[in-house]
Amino acid sequence: MKIRLKLLSYILAMASIVCLNGCNMQTTGDEGAMDIGVAIYKFDDNFMTLYRNALENYVNELSKGDKAYRVTIVDGKGDQAEQTNQIDTFIANKVDVIICNLVQASSAATIIQKCKSANIPVIFINREPTAEDLALWDRVSYVGADARQSGKFQGEIIAETETKGDINGDGVVSYVMITGDPENVDAQYRTEFSIKALNDAGIQTKELFNQRGDWAQERGQELTATALANFGSEIDVIFCNNDAMALGASQAITAAGRTVGKDIYLVGVDALEEAQSLVESGKMTGTVLNDHVAQAKKAVDVALQAVDGGMIEKNYTIDYVKITK
Ligand code: GAL
Repeated sequence: MKIRLKLLSYILAMASIVCLNGCNMQTTGDEGAMDIGVAIYKFDDNFMTLYRNALENYVNELSKGDKAYRVTIVDGKGDQAEQTNQIDTFIANKVDVIICNLVQASSAATIIQKCKSANIPVIFINREPTAEDLALWDRVSYVGADARQSGKFQGEIIAETETKGDINGDGVVSYVMITGDPENVDAQYRTEFSIKALNDAGIQTKELFNQRGDWAQERGQELTATALANFGSEIDVIFCNNDAMALGASQAITAAGRTVGKDIYLVGVDALEEAQSLVESGKMTGTVLNDHVAQAKKAVDVALQAVDGGMIEKNYTIDYVKITK
């Protein structure tokens, strides 16, 4: 009997582990503990995967001793309607606080109204709502980074190269821009401010190609391959709004027989481990650290402060950091 019970509990434990990895929801912590509901825009995103794991680890760290927290993380699958339902479920389950990585920043007001009616504080992360939306309630906050800074750093990395970005020496920096989804302010600002930094340094630029890669590696590869086939040696720089797309771009650059640092430059944002290795080996010109660990910790700290009834600011900003060899 004892053996059978042991076997049964083993099977149940295994099932929950499988669910943790394969389901669209991950929960850790004790029942009866303070409940933190976390809605992520999409699990299938390299950077947000690191972010949510850091967030979960931090809550578990804090959960030791007399403090008990339970965190439930759900996957919005890139669908705002799905995420709004998940927020409704968190509210129906009376979680203590919600941390939300919006699918569409334009849905912030709807989510805030729902949380306000239920008096559950909401901390937005990664996708910044407008100042107008953040002003709708005092138990709302945004924890993130200023995407203008990441764009500026990308531009500066290129401006600081030996040829000031003009690796083919034709007098103008001709570039390819691979963007995240256009509704996302990170994509908008990185696109704008990377080029602005070059222009502010007195460098002339020319856009050859600008397409959305939706933050995904495969798209980065496809789009870069197309751009290289169409514009060849005219291209000086491939700007990617994030590293996942830059990893794809790097594959396409190698496949086209081009060499970063010799006849083309490549920059991304996030400082994913794979991208840092490429920077180290010279296959990427640089990247910009998007500090997911600091952002995750801050988001949890602010969430707990909000539950305690403490004053919270409208914005908490974590600095980006330039990464070159
Ligand atoms: C950005 C990040 C991207 C992607 C995006 C999702 O900050 O650089 O890699 O995760 O957030 O909104």
